Amino acid sequence: MLRFLTSGESHGKGLISTIEGFPAQVPVDVDFINADLRRRMGGYGRGLRMKIESDQVDIFAGVRNGETLGSPIAFIIHNRDWVNWTEVMSVEPNPEGVRKRQVTRPRPGHADLVGALKYQFKDMRNVLERSSARETASRVAVGAFCKLLLRELGIQVYSHVISIRKVRISDELLDTVSVDLIPQIESSELRCCDPALDESMKATVDDAIDRGDTIGGTFEVRAAGVPPGLGSHVHWDRKLDGRLAQALMSINAIKAVETGSGLDQAPMGSKFHDEIFYDDEKREFYRKTNRAGGIEGGTSNGQEVIVRAVVKPIATLKRPLMSVNLHTKEPFKAQYERSDTCVVPAAGVIGEAMVAIVLVQAIQEKFGGDNLSELQNNLESFRERVRAM
Ligand SMILES: Cc1cc2nc3c(=O)[nH]c(=O)nc-3n(C[C@H](O)[C@H](O)[C@H](O)COP(=O)(O)O)c2cc1C
Repeated sequence: MLRFLTSGESHGKGLISTIEGFPAQVPVDVDFINADLRRRMGGYGRGLRMKIESDQVDIFAGVRNGETLGSPIAFIIHNRDWVNWTEVMSVEPNPEGVRKRQVTRPRPGHADLVGALKYQFKDMRNVLERSSARETASRVAVGAFCKLLLRELGIQVYSHVISIRKVRISDELLDTVSVDLIPQIESSELRCCDPALDESMKATVDDAIDRGDTIGGTFEVRAAGVPPGLGSHVHWDRKLDGRLAQALMSINAIKAVETGSGLDQAPMGSKFHDEIFYDDEKREFYRKTNRAGGIEGGTSNGQEVIVRAVVKPIATLKRPLMSVNLHTKEPFKAQYERSDTCVVPAAGVIGEAMVAIVLVQAIQEKFGGDNLSELQNNLESFRERVRAM
């Protein structure tokens, strides 16, 4: 089953990733992977770093003649900014260089202090370099490989922004989101499916920039074409919703996750549940609503899988909050380092990657497949068995 490891510091030479357990003979479209990396770099409200970088995968192993080999896939994403950090990030001992960009005033809401306490560092740059969301570029590339596989199985993963601070799309629109809205979402700098909200969302970001503040929001990831039967009700760690929640929660700055309309269910009462119907022609069970987000009993039910996540405001502030100097224990304003103002659209793209990774793992668990066509056959024969029930 697919697993992956990422390594790399934010201002190091680059990010190195290895994917293991990926099926053989999946067509690899490098432009598609690089396009996803560009999508992660975008979104209104990003900082200067994203203007410096131009992320691309440099594939070293596991792909030959445009197809995966079933062997480990290895790739690097080079950090262009590294040339400006060679002394500070030196692999060889370089005490003078290391002193230059020491971090001693932890930012509330960031990993600085907890990381220093845990690993016992006097310089919190040692934490910041890895806790930075730069690492998520690796995950987006791994997720893009997974999307290429899912595409071959008729599954499409997409995301959109539901809210930026208090500006939120209407519930009516949210209920009608589908793959048909992808062109609108992709053309919006805020990845919002309501063109009427683009300007007010931008104004909210601009206002935060002017005030030296940062803002959060919510995004939704959807997967269309998911078969029923992924995950299971039989054991806690096999539940698909639990696995998706963990994967999304692992994204930097995500503070809450829901499946479907989970957070809105209380006032709805039992109307929350999606009634079951049967289409004789298609020989398929279906629902007219999808408040469960396509998952019941920890198992996909054949509807679109829908998960939502809440992104907190970024912790690095031009007008910093109070903190304490790690060495002197004196009260100080927290450290400021070049930073983003709003990352909700980018977080949605990272969310797509995490959802794609979990879906591939769940698919491999159910349908096996060392090879793409073997996997396709197994999936199709399962769909037929379900239709014949
Ligand atoms: C796409 C993206 C970009 C981010 N950029 C920044 C940033 O520029 N500055 C910052 O302080 N935090 C940024 N973050 C958030 C931090 O990485 C995150 O808050 C930190 O690692 C602590 O983890 P936690 O918020 O999950 O507790 C970003 C997060 C994402 C998803």
